[in-house]
This record gives sequence, C-alpha cells and structure tokens, in this order.
Amino acid sequence: MFRTAVFAALALSLFAVPALAQPDGEQLFNQQCGLCHNDETMGPTLAGVSGRKVGGSGFDYSPALKAKGEAGATWTDAELDIFLKGPPAYAPGVKMFMAVPQDDNRAAIIAYLKTLK
Ligand code: HEC
Repeated sequence: MFRTAVFAALALSLFAVPALAQPDGEQLFNQQCGLCHNDETMGPTLAGVSGRKVGGSGFDYSPALKAKGEAGATWTDAELDIFLKGPPAYAPGVKMFMAVPQDDNRAAIIAYLKTLK
C-alpha cells in the first residue's frame, strides 16, 4: 500500500509535472510576450486584442499586418491560433517572430488574452 502510494507519487512527479497538464496562460504571457507587449514601445498593446481588427491599435505596424486588417481580418481565436503558431507564415513580412508551437500553450495564451481589457 505504502509502496504503491510512493510509486504513484514518483510517477506523478516524473511524468505529470514536466508535461504541465494545464498550462498557465498568464505565466506564459509574462514569460514570452510581456517584454514586448506591456506598453507600445516594442509591440502593440494587447489589451482588448481579442475581437479587434488585425493591426488595429495605434502601433506602427508592418505593411504585412496592416494589409491583413485592411482585408477585413479580426483577431478571433482561430486567427490568433494561426498567427501564434507561426507569425511569418500568417503574414510574410511581419515584425514579430515569437511563435508558440505547442497547441495547449497557445490555447492557454489565447484564453488569457481575452482577459486583457
Ligand atoms: C520581441 C518582441 C515581441 C514578442 C516577444 C512578442 N511579440 Fe507580439 N508583436 C510584436 C510586434 C513588433 C508586433 C507587430 C508586428 C507587425 O507590425 O508586423 C506584434 C504583434 C502581435 C499581435 C497582433 C496585434 C495587433 O494589434 O494586431 C498579437 C496578437 C501578438 N503580437 C501576440 C503576441 C503573443 C501572444 C506573444 C507571446 C507568445 C508575443 N506577441 C510576443 C512583438 C513581439
């Protein structure tokens, strides 16, 4: 019984923890995005980005991202997902290169972006 419990705890610490079953969107954002997105110096503000027109804040965007917005694109969850998977693939010529390759991390970050008002 005790051995089983110890083994279970070990298994959890070895396998469950590194996999981070539920990524924390706020933590990921602070680690990977905040540097450029906490003010308008390095990147556009992401407050209210969910549902906003692509390239829709006062930031000095690349022509690539502006063209997306002018063509009618808005930041839906699906649009954010494609963008964050590979910004240069979404809009060749974009000025942001930070990608989030892991699906669950992207989902957590997109959920957190919705809380930024
Ligand atoms: C090294 C700086 C940098 C980092 C790190 C960074 N970004 Fe960006 N981001 C930018 C820049 C610059 C732009 C504007 C790109 C353009 O104009 O082509 C941008 C644009 C965006 C946009 C489009 C905003 C709009 O108004 O249309 C979103 C959404 C975004 N970033 C999300 C993120 C997320 C989420 C992360 C973290 C995973 C992140 N960024 C990390 C610099 C950065």
